[in-house]
Amino acid sequence: MQIKMGSFKAKEMLRLFVVIAFLLASSSAGNFSQDVNITWGGPRAQIQNGGQVLTLSLDNSSGSGFESRNQFMYGRIDVQLKLIPGNSAGTVTTFFLSSLGSAHDEIDFEFLGNSSGQPYTIHTNVFAKGVGNKEQQFRLWFDPTTAFHTYTIVWNSQCIIWLIDNIPIRVFINYESNGIPFPTNQPMKVYASLWNADDWATQGGRVKTDWTKAPFTASYRNYNANACIVSTTGNSCNNGTVSSQAWQTQGLDANDRNRIRWVQTNYMIYNYCTDVPRFPRGFPKECRLPRF
Ligand SMILES: *[C@@H]1O[C@H](CO)[C@@H](O)[C@H](O)[C@H]1NC(C)=O
Ligand SMILES: *[C@@H]1O[C@H](CO)[C@@H](O)[C@H](O)[C@H]1NC(C)=O
Ligand SMILES: *[C@@H]1O[C@H](CO)[C@@H](O)[C@H](O)[C@H]1NC(C)=O
Ligand SMILES: *[C@@H]1O[C@H](CO)[C@@H](O)[C@H](O)[C@H]1NC(C)=O
Ligand SMILES: *[C@@H]1O[C@H](CO)[C@@H](O)[C@H](O)[C@H]1NC(C)=O
Repeated sequence: MQIKMGSFKAKEMLRLFVVIAFLLASSSAGNFSQDVNITWGGPRAQIQNGGQVLTLSLDNSSGSGFESRNQFMYGRIDVQLKLIPGNSAGTVTTFFLSSLGSAHDEIDFEFLGNSSGQPYTIHTNVFAKGVGNKEQQFRLWFDPTTAFHTYTIVWNSQCIIWLIDNIPIRVFINYESNGIPFPTNQPMKVYASLWNADDWATQGGRVKTDWTKAPFTASYRNYNANACIVSTTGNSCNNGTVSSQAWQTQGLDANDRNRIRWVQTNYMIYNYCTDVPRFPRGFPKECRLPRF
């Protein structure tokens, strides 16, 4: 009887804990005015609605961009994005993490524009200790220009997961024990930008930016860095607040594995691990290890 009481209480406690954790997580939704600095493009980047929305634009003079004020060592970064509507050919919109520097770490989401009615390409890549060349590209199962959708990077010591509307599209597992570099020791900031890359971005550079349609504008909203902040006064992960959060141990459960298989079967359009001509002397090691 006592045991039953105990387990009932434990369940109630757990439920309460989950509710509290959820409230804490949702109350931490970001404010662009406080969380980021516009680093490029001056008036072409605008913070609106009291910090809730940030728009980046590109015109024939230049693009624009912002970076997080904080730098992070592991975390879950969410942002909602509405991409350039209509003819976005030649443009690249980005959302990524980077440590910069020569042997830098980086985790990329890039959105390659297209002619009106043609699909965006979602480009992903990861650099660890300066080593990149791990591109995967995807189509989307929705039109990313008509509404906001959530793009997420989860980065913990076991893996990196790219998610769209909470559906995992890619995972990069920490195989450092197999000699494959993984970002484990350089703090990264969050960056976003919108720029012209019509020499390569759209259909291999054949479709150019139509400047008569400028300015091109992409909107960011609900930026949320649920992450360990690294600062001169210490690492917030050590203070007990962040340490109980789900992203720290997030991997793929059975349901996630079904969903990532669905994405990779139906929407993946490029995978470096299947690009034979590119790796004539054999694929990178991680391509031969379990994917999920
Ligand atoms: C966001 O931060 C700015 C600057 O601190 C402040 O003026 C604004 O009211 C904040 N917005 C919200 C929605 O709290
Ligand atoms: C850029 O666009 C503006 C406005 O359409 C136009 O007046 C200007 O001539 C253009 N500049 C260049 C270098 O094309
Ligand atoms: C961001 O801007 C704030 C306010 O202007 C400034 O105090 C801070 O040093 C800047 N941070 C970075 C990382 O540039
Ligand atoms: C643009 O659309 C064309 C035709 O559908 C497609 O081949 C291409 O992959 C799309 N994306 C980019 C970035 O070129
Ligand atoms: C712990 O870290 C969190 C997240 O950065 C921060 O909001 C909080 O103020 C920190 N608490 C202490 C006691 O330093």
